[in-house]
Amino acid sequence: MRILLGVSGGIAAYKTPDLVRRLKRAGHEVRVACTHSALELVSRTALETVSGEPVLFETFTPRVHAGVEHIDLASWAELALVAPATANVIAKLACGLADDFLTTVLLACPAPLWLAPGMNTRMWDHPATRANVACLVERGARLIGPDEGELACGTTGVGRMSEPERIVEALQAHHARDLVLRGRTVLVTAGATREPLDAVRFLSNPSTGRMGVAVARAALDLGARVILVHAHLGVKVPAGVEAVFASSAVAMQGAVLSHRDRADLVVMTAAVGDFMPPETAPGKVKKEDVGETWNLTLVRTPDILAGLGQDRERSGARRPLLVGFAAETAGGDQDRLLTLARQKLSRKRCDAIFANDVQVPGAGFAGDTNLGLLVFADGRVHPLGPGTKDQVASALLSEVASSPGIVAAPPLP
Ligand code: CTP
Repeated sequence: MRILLGVSGGIAAYKTPDLVRRLKRAGHEVRVACTHSALELVSRTALETVSGEPVLFETFTPRVHAGVEHIDLASWAELALVAPATANVIAKLACGLADDFLTTVLLACPAPLWLAPGMNTRMWDHPATRANVACLVERGARLIGPDEGELACGTTGVGRMSEPERIVEALQAHHARDLVLRGRTVLVTAGATREPLDAVRFLSNPSTGRMGVAVARAALDLGARVILVHAHLGVKVPAGVEAVFASSAVAMQGAVLSHRDRADLVVMTAAVGDFMPPETAPGKVKKEDVGETWNLTLVRTPDILAGLGQDRERSGARRPLLVGFAAETAGGDQDRLLTLARQKLSRKRCDAIFANDVQVPGAGFAGDTNLGLLVFADGRVHPLGPGTKDQVASALLSEVASSPGIVAAPPLP
């Protein structure tokens, strides 16, 4: 792989010649771009010797290669790794600043971005750094470390750049993974639908869409093309998906149906409202016109997942594979949760359902974690979690991706 190694001015920069050597030994081509501060901490000659390439750090110097240096390097790279990534470089990347050669090339680089942060614990813990890291991770950046240990300032804590050996291992492990969904299209729904009562009021629910976004990211990670049909989200749409916005249940059904034929797999994580007003009042309904009590009449929304199941059964098609989510209140009783999951699975005619008991701590809406049962129509049951929503999403997709329905079916053209 062609790796652009960005070195910024953390003390761990002195370890980067070893990192370059290890990356090359693992079979990668490496070109290095540095900040000026990095060159206070590591010798340019050492980096040029181990990489066999000129080290680039000036935006406006005579060009080493033909063309526009930062654009050429950005296009050349199949992966950008910043090690060490200082708080300063992380902040610049989060803001999209390009005020030196390294940040200019990174801003122009479409390749996946990996960061191996290295800094003092207090800088790592600072809310600004936390927010900048979270923003980059949401855009698809991956983190290696930082590790806990002795820091250059003499203290001990989290902030140490991972050792070069571990950085190379993490990259190798990621790229050696079986991209089981390569060539497949996964349609994921996420977020809370809104059913408008009038021009300023709506019915909705507390879903943030975090689980759906985690499923979308996990599908990308397994090599899939991802269509994310999303209603209202409390988190950002991840980079790399085809995003389609649908506010209400009816709009979401329309969006899902118009993309269904492209999908090998549909994962319905959206918290779709079950009831809606039969019509939306055109303006704002005034209190004086309503009086003390507003008696609302609500009608059922279309059940999107059940509709997909019905259509598939009627047509005899085997695709798309359908996976639903079920938020249940089972009072912590696993058997009851399984019974409810199985009932919903057969009612909606889907292939699998991930059921969680929202009365169990760590499961369900809005939080960072989840746990539950992945129940297949063929009888298999896999408990998933507890873990972060990313971990649970990734375990869920790995199970689903190895189902006969996915493995046996040839990819769609
Ligand atoms: N779902 C859907 N369309 C709806 C309601 C739900 O496609 N109108 C999907 C959800 O995205 C989820 C699954 O159906 O994948 C189960 O949703 P859930 O709210 O647990 O079930 P409901 O069908 O609403 O049943 P109930 O609320 O009675 O448990």
